[in-house]
Formats: sequence, C-alpha cells, structure tokens
Amino acid sequence: MMKFQGDHILSVSQFDREAISRILAISAQMTPYAMRQKRCLVLEGAILNNLFFEPSTRTRVSFGTAFNLLGGFVRETVGQENTSLSKGESLFDTAQVISGYSDVIAMRHPKMHSVEEFSKGSSVPVINGGDGANEHPTQALLDLFTIQSEMSPFNKGIDNLHITLMGDLKHGRTVHSLSKLLSLYNNVKITMISPKALQMPDNVVSALSNAGHEVIITDEMAGNLACDIIYQTRIQQERFASKDEADLYRGHFSLNKEAYKQYCKEYTVIMHPLPRDSRPEANELDTDLNDLDNLAIFRQAQNGVLVRMALFALTLGVEDKLQQHEKPITWHTNKNK
Ligand code: NCD
Repeated sequence: MMKFQGDHILSVSQFDREAISRILAISAQMTPYAMRQKRCLVLEGAILNNLFFEPSTRTRVSFGTAFNLLGGFVRETVGQENTSLSKGESLFDTAQVISGYSDVIAMRHPKMHSVEEFSKGSSVPVINGGDGANEHPTQALLDLFTIQSEMSPFNKGIDNLHITLMGDLKHGRTVHSLSKLLSLYNNVKITMISPKALQMPDNVVSALSNAGHEVIITDEMAGNLACDIIYQTRIQQERFASKDEADLYRGHFSLNKEAYKQYCKEYTVIMHPLPRDSRPEANELDTDLNDLDNLAIFRQAQNGVLVRMALFALTLGVEDKLQQHEKPITWHTNKNK
C-alpha cells in the first residue's frame, strides 16, 4: 500500500487504484468540516507555504482554504517576479530555504517538471499544483471525486463510463492527468474532441488504449456528445507563441443549451476545471447552461477543497486523527442550506 506520509505528490503516475480509493474516501470524510458543521484542528500550528508562479484562483485559494480548515497556517507567494527566482536563484536553492520554513509546500510553475526539480531540494512534502502543460494531479483527483459523486445517483461508478474530453487537449494539463488516472479503471470509453493541431499527446492516448479503453479522436462536436460526462477545457493561451495563434482555435467547440439539448443525453454531466473563457469569441460553456442541474462545474471546484484537505491529512500523517481534534462551530453559517 502506498504510504503517503512524508511523500511528495508530483504526478498521478504514483497512484494505484487502491491509493485513489483511499484519497477519495478521506476526501468524503472532510465534508462536515468544509460544510461548517464542525471544525477540525488536527493541523493546528502546521505551516503550508503556497508558491504560485503562474496565475491561479481555485487551486491556490482552495489549497490555502483546505489547510486552514484543518487548523493550519498558510503563507503565500505569488509571481516569480516577487521572489529570488528572478535574481537567478535555482529551484533547488529556493526549495532548501522555503522547506525550512514549512511543514508542507504546494507549488505551481509554468515549466514542465519544475515542481519535481524543486522537490529534490525540499525537506518537506511538495504537492504539484500544475507544472506547465505537464500535470495537475490534485485537479485530476478532484475530477475523479466529482465524476464519482455526480454519477452515483445514476448507479454508475467510474468503470464503464463514456467520457468526452473537449478543447485544448494538447496543452491542458488537467486532461493529461485525468486521462492517466482513467487508465487505472476498466472499460472506459473516451471521446477526444479537439482541433487537429491540439490533439491529446500520443503517450496519453496510448496509456488509455493499452488499458483496453476505447478512444475516439475527432475534431467534430456534433454527434459526439451523447456520453455520461463532458469535460470541457479552455484554450491554454499562455502555452502558445502568441495570442493570435491561440485565437485560431478559440470558439470551435462552444457548448450552449441548444447544443446540449440537441446532442447530449438527458443526464449528461458537464464538467470544466475552470476558469471557463466566457469572452464572446470563446464562450466554452454558455451562461445559458447555468440553470442546468447537470452543470457540475461549481460543485467540481468545491470538491477541490475536500480532496486537498485529504492530501494534506495523508502527507502529514493525520488522516486517522481527525475526530480527536473536532470542535463545534460557534458562528452563524449559511452553508449546507
Ligand atoms: C486549470 C489549470 O490551471 O491547469 N485550472 C485549474 O487549475 N482549475 C485549467 C485552466 O487554466 O484552463
């Protein structure tokens, strides 16, 4: 069994199915704390350093919130220009120093494999919050948690699902990590809709086919959306040479209510790692979908808190001590209405 305690979390490749079930089960145990039914102070006094060298809203804030919800302190650094990395310091040296100030570190960086490089200099667990176009392991775990919870009313698990990934599959790290995780499950059908130039990398496609999954690669949206889950993504403009180049691909697969009604099943669940690009030229998920129960995007973002709480509990070895550190909520809360 994977041990977690003291480990870095750099790639989904380090997990087997048993490890994932454990993470997802502990994530579910975090619900009463996130919903403010009770507090848990199991990490009281512990320090998370959140290092975000690339734009982030959800990942950065939910890592911080997750740590706070377990009673810990969060320090945050945003932007390389505000750090000694801009003075030529190596990731290794920065890691040596920051890990001396922390119990755990969460990090995002624009360069592929940079978080792994950083982890080599760190004396405390480092959790990858996205390294360029490579991976986003915590997002993939929260995506799986979401798929599981959204499908359970239909008595479906992850095995045997039909999932459609759509958009910039070449640069989107969330779809890379999610696909690698799906390789661990059975008989998943995966439709990949993208412009030809933005297709899923070969190694990810072969991981899925080698797992025995059916993979359909297409650049047509119409006729390819009758599935259990649509996972829409954003054109990753920051990974293109110029905005003009990214503009070539924007708006190809805009999904609105009319297209949903025409092409999807009655129960098809819509996911997106967010942010959705809502500018008229992109409009990935039209706001006319907002009143659709099957639009899971904000539940999905909320699940990020639960999964990140679970990962902190596991890497810091307190997952069996949650109940001993519970306290009542003493303030008014609008949660869980
Ligand atoms: C994604 C990312 O940063 O990879 N966002 C996120 O973490 N939820 C997706 C994106 O930026 O398009």
